[in-house]
Amino acid sequence: MPDNQDKYDLSFFDITGNCNLRCPFCINDWSTISGNVPVSEKTFGKILTLLPLLNSFYLSCYFEPTIHPDFSSIIKMIPDEHRKKVLFTTNLSRKLSDDVIEGLSNSGFNYINISLDSLNPQVFESLRKGARFDVFYDNLRCLTDAFSANPNAPPLRYITILNRHNVDEIPKLIEDCATNYLSTMNELRTFVPMPHINKDWIKDNEITEDRRNTLWETLYEFPHKWMYVDYGKKSEYDEFFDSLEDPKKKKIYFLPPFTGLRISSEGIVELTHMGIESKYDINKMDDPYGMFKEILALHHLDVERAGEIKNLHCEKLSIMKEKDSVIDNITSEKNAAIRQRDDSICNLTNERNALTEEKHTLTAEKDGLTDELATVKATYFYMLSQKDMAGVWRKFRHSAGKLLFKNNPKLKNHIKKTLRIGK
Ligand SMILES: C[S@@+](CC[C@H](N)C(=O)[O-])C[C@H]1O[C@@H](n2cnc3c(N)ncnc32)[C@H](O)[C@@H]1O
Ligand code: SF4
Repeated sequence: MPDNQDKYDLSFFDITGNCNLRCPFCINDWSTISGNVPVSEKTFGKILTLLPLLNSFYLSCYFEPTIHPDFSSIIKMIPDEHRKKVLFTTNLSRKLSDDVIEGLSNSGFNYINISLDSLNPQVFESLRKGARFDVFYDNLRCLTDAFSANPNAPPLRYITILNRHNVDEIPKLIEDCATNYLSTMNELRTFVPMPHINKDWIKDNEITEDRRNTLWETLYEFPHKWMYVDYGKKSEYDEFFDSLEDPKKKKIYFLPPFTGLRISSEGIVELTHMGIESKYDINKMDDPYGMFKEILALHHLDVERAGEIKNLHCEKLSIMKEKDSVIDNITSEKNAAIRQRDDSICNLTNERNALTEEKHTLTAEKDGLTDELATVKATYFYMLSQKDMAGVWRKFRHSAGKLLFKNNPKLKNHIKKTLRIGK
């Protein structure tokens, strides 16, 4: 596999499954989330085996990591050689123990994001519902004091949700963070107006584009590092997708071509590039690394094969077109030329079949694989085949999936039952 294909493009992980706060703009719809299963050392140990397959490793994406009861033991478990990939975001609103602060200071992590919407206690507490400014501020002081005394401590970044109640404070906030709280970057963002967020709250907190532009003008000459992330703005991929008119193409490109894993604190791993339910329990796997490496390899093999097959199709088509354009009264010389071309069409077709077989062999081959891995492989192909997507690539997955099941009806039933797939 080429170097840039030996890792998942994206990964999301949380060591917990809940939060100590209830911010009114939170991306999470708390009415659908209950309980909290902090990652256990056993599960975390398994998740850590995936590190060689990941470009970055988040300890939190959706939830709050500092509420983990064994946060400092969790940090210690991460192997030294992968610490540079590690990062997380925290609300810093739960009292941190000295042990945790020391652990973070010596962690060797890539960086730590601190959410900070205001240094005005009243505004802070209205935006970070459930937090106490004095607790946050005490944590901030202790953390930055420890980090200042340690030249190897990870860089700190700050994330601020821009809104009507803090917009006037932003220049001072960035300045304070840089001068007093070791900020290497202040990220400003507008909140994503998720459907579950209270509409009155949105009305009361939205800021106009004009107000934002005035802010940029003030910040433009600023000596401190800051950036604006507009989550409401469409990505290049979104624009490309929107431009597609053919519904078949929409189906093909429904998912962006990034491979990704989302891992919950319970150890459930989802393939985000599948777009269909694809959840695997890492706790039940003997060799999670082998399994997810294999899935990655299969994905890239698919892409490579799809490219090769497409090229062969194109060559075949252009030869056929040439043949069609030959006029009626052809000489025997021309006939011979056509025969030769027919041979090459034949060769191309055989070659294509050989590719297909090779792919089937690779997919069906079970030698040296655990049953578990064979199941995952089969599920992968089977579920893709269920998506009814057009295109050569999808069709090949479909036939590969079918072949596996033909050889193993028990497996087919088992997977259908597990995934509750009807037919
Ligand atoms: C989901 S939180 C999880 C980490 C931690 N609980 C925290 O708030 O720092 C990650 C980051 O997303 C931000 N965030 C939450 N809801 C958001 C929204 N609707 N739009 C944009 N950013 C949001 C938070 O302010 C935080 O900086
Ligand atoms: S602290 Fe983070 S996860 Fe918790 S409610 Fe606020 S934004 Fe959401």
